[in-house]
Amino acid sequence: MFSFDTGVALITGGGSGIGQAVAVSLAGAGVPVVVADVNARGIDETLAHIRTKGGEGLGVELDVTQAASVDRAFGAAEDWKGPVTSLVNSAGILKVEPFEHFPEAAFSQVLNVNVTGSFQCAQRAASGMKAAGFGRIVNLSSVSGYRAGVGRAAYGTSKAAINGLTRQMALELGRYGITANAVAPGPTVTAMTEPVYNAETKASLLPMIPAGYLADPEDISAAIVFLLSRQARYINGQTLAVDGGYLASGMLQTAELKL
Ligand SMILES: NC(=O)c1ccc[n+]([C@@H]2O[C@H](COP(=O)([O-])OP(=O)(O)OC[C@H]3O[C@@H](n4cnc5c(N)ncnc54)[C@H](O)[C@@H]3O)[C@@H](O)[C@H]2O)c1
Repeated sequence: MFSFDTGVALITGGGSGIGQAVAVSLAGAGVPVVVADVNARGIDETLAHIRTKGGEGLGVELDVTQAASVDRAFGAAEDWKGPVTSLVNSAGILKVEPFEHFPEAAFSQVLNVNVTGSFQCAQRAASGMKAAGFGRIVNLSSVSGYRAGVGRAAYGTSKAAINGLTRQMALELGRYGITANAVAPGPTVTAMTEPVYNAETKASLLPMIPAGYLADPEDISAAIVFLLSRQARYINGQTLAVDGGYLASGMLQTAELKL
């Protein structure tokens, strides 16, 4: 039902979690995928999954905060198959500290990876997409970009910034056949959340998620893959919550009436 334009997809953070699920799913649909990550072991793991599906993948070590590293990764993709026409900015980090004691260095690091990293990769991708007359950018936002969470001063701020950055990309690149959208996942079980969700945290989240469970990476990657498809060409500048209804809900009890 969905098809993809010719060209390469580059997935930052492709060595784990949501990025890995996108890489495997796209490669399974016949798209050549560059798996880019700081974690070499994660890259190998994703490439092994891609091979199992009979897909084509290239692993590239990438630190999204370093302009030279970003340029090298895109250069490797271009040498392999030509311009990157699909970019998924899934590289991200989460640091949880109380607001009053949040170390400035940690705050800057989160902004640097999550926001500046996505900016740098999209900026590097834009020229190739422009030349191809086609491009798809999907940034990873979060429900934390809309709702505050304890300890998430840096993370939540970075994801709110991603929503704005996505609109900016959509406006300035739209005329070249490029779309930029964001996906805002709800709580998803990955390596990122493993250390910050204990059993009590998970139990406290569940009543707020109408779907009744925490997402798997595949729940999120399905929406990302759709936004990368040809058929999504008229969707631009949006942030799509993929959260089981978390952002839609608020009041859980009205007098004696409750779910
Ligand atoms: N898991 C969730 O609940 C959740 C919810 C909302 C949004 N998100 C967002 O989705 C994205 C993916 O998260 P995930 O849950 O799959 O996390 P994850 O930790 O499983 O994967 C993130 C990947 O990014 C890589 N990475 C980190 N810093 C990097 C850097 N400087 N350069 C290149 N790669 C780097 C890591 O090595 C890792 O492989 C993130 O942007 C995250 O903020 C996750």
